[in-house]
Amino acid sequence: MLVTLKELVQLAYKSDYAVPAFNIHTYEDAVAIVKGAEEMKSPVILMASPSAIKHLGIKVAACIMNELAQNAVVPVVSHLDHATDLDIIFKAMKVGFSSVMYDGSNLSFEENVQNTKLVVRVARAFGVSVEAEIGRVGKSEEGEEVIQILTEPDAASRFFELTQVDALAVAVGTAHGMQKQEAQINFERVEEIQNVVDVPLVLHGSSGVPDEDLTKISKMRFGKINIGTVLKTVYVDRIRKVLQEQPQLKDQIRLLQEASIAVTEMVKHKIKLLNSSGRM
Ligand code: G3H
Ligand code: ZN
Repeated sequence: MLVTLKELVQLAYKSDYAVPAFNIHTYEDAVAIVKGAEEMKSPVILMASPSAIKHLGIKVAACIMNELAQNAVVPVVSHLDHATDLDIIFKAMKVGFSSVMYDGSNLSFEENVQNTKLVVRVARAFGVSVEAEIGRVGKSEEGEEVIQILTEPDAASRFFELTQVDALAVAVGTAHGMQKQEAQINFERVEEIQNVVDVPLVLHGSSGVPDEDLTKISKMRFGKINIGTVLKTVYVDRIRKVLQEQPQLKDQIRLLQEASIAVTEMVKHKIKLLNSSGRM
């Protein structure tokens, strides 16, 4: 069933689990993610990033996610990820996303607050949930420098007071796009933030987080854990392997079915770590 982010994270953040949020890029990986969540009886958040929106178009992305959500036996959120453009946010609400992230983390504190407040006001009218970001989770893609600004607890507290978002993304040591699980979470900073702000927190760049830290963080005040890169990696790796093993293969359906199996396996593994199995 299709649900909002607010419903799911409100239940999770004060409990000993977090809701997994996975980036989708194609129809096939979206199906594979929902399959993994259903097999584990876990709620799940499907996220369309700017590159997924560029690839699929905003309407098709919404159709895929909402169709899968409505037919799923577990609660599913259709979420717009990292939108920096207000027009895209409002379009997403119109085409049926149940949740949006406004990412003003590159802006000044004041501009971020001002735009987020506007998004929250419109979203309330649509019954859509809102996530925003304070601090900045950098990128670690090859050749790019990781520019990370750890979230200041006081800024997080003021930001939440002013915007009343449903979930708040904070920078506590992760980076987007990591191929190895080598992120060093600053648990001290996590606690400092949690001591002053009472809102479900969101961890971005979670592909790079070691397994034991993912479990640890899911027991803290994080309601939503964002995972993208590792699913892309296993999807493409499996395609590479199948093509090497079966050079005569001429059927893309069979090829993508194999890739989907790899995605479902990884989704189930992450769900186990986040302890969200059976929470529906
Ligand atoms: O918003 C998406 C996530 O932060 C994904 O991060 O691709 O590094 O796992 P990741
Ligand atoms: Zn992110």
